[in-house]
Amino acid sequence: MYDIVKMLHSYWAYLVLIMLVLATFNALIKFFGNKEFQAVDFRISLFALIVTHIQLLIGLLLYFTSPFGLKNIQNNGMGGLDPFSRLLAVEHPFVGILAVVLITMGYSKHKKKLTSKPKFKMLAIFYTLGLLLVLSRIPWTNWF
Ligand code: HEM
Repeated sequence: MYDIVKMLHSYWAYLVLIMLVLATFNALIKFFGNKEFQAVDFRISLFALIVTHIQLLIGLLLYFTSPFGLKNIQNNGMGGLDPFSRLLAVEHPFVGILAVVLITMGYSKHKKKLTSKPKFKMLAIFYTLGLLLVLSRIPWTNWF
């Protein structure tokens, strides 16, 4: 079970990063370029939201099955974690959840705006923050 969930989380992460980078740069470029908000922009931001939410679900499953997730905290206590174990068991999951919350807020706020500029603005701000948070706490050395 653990191996499958970990593999899924590991491969799905490529799709998450590709979509988040695409949706973030799309919003930033079109915000600064004063472009019209079109169906393709809606689809890109929605698809990024969906793949990120799926990663959150896989991540939660992983958190409860991995020896490097909750079990590590239960076995060693919060104070007994070295920096890398803390990254896997605390920082990465916590910051990942925060990033998903921000991305969801950006998506929901952009939908409430009626014109192009504010729509791109909401997506640009919240997706950029979400992407930066995700990038800051990926366990890169484990992944590659
Ligand atoms: C939202 C964006 C996220 C991305 C892009 C992401 C990506 C990754 C990557 C690339 C790894 C390393 C996989 C490997 O070693 O092959 C990893 C590990 C891990 N992730 Fe995430 N993750 C995200 C969110 C989450 C969330 C929300 C949780 C839990 C609530 C979570 C829990 C974990 C755990 C526990 C590990 C360590 C697994 C292990 O080594 O046994 N992740 N994640």
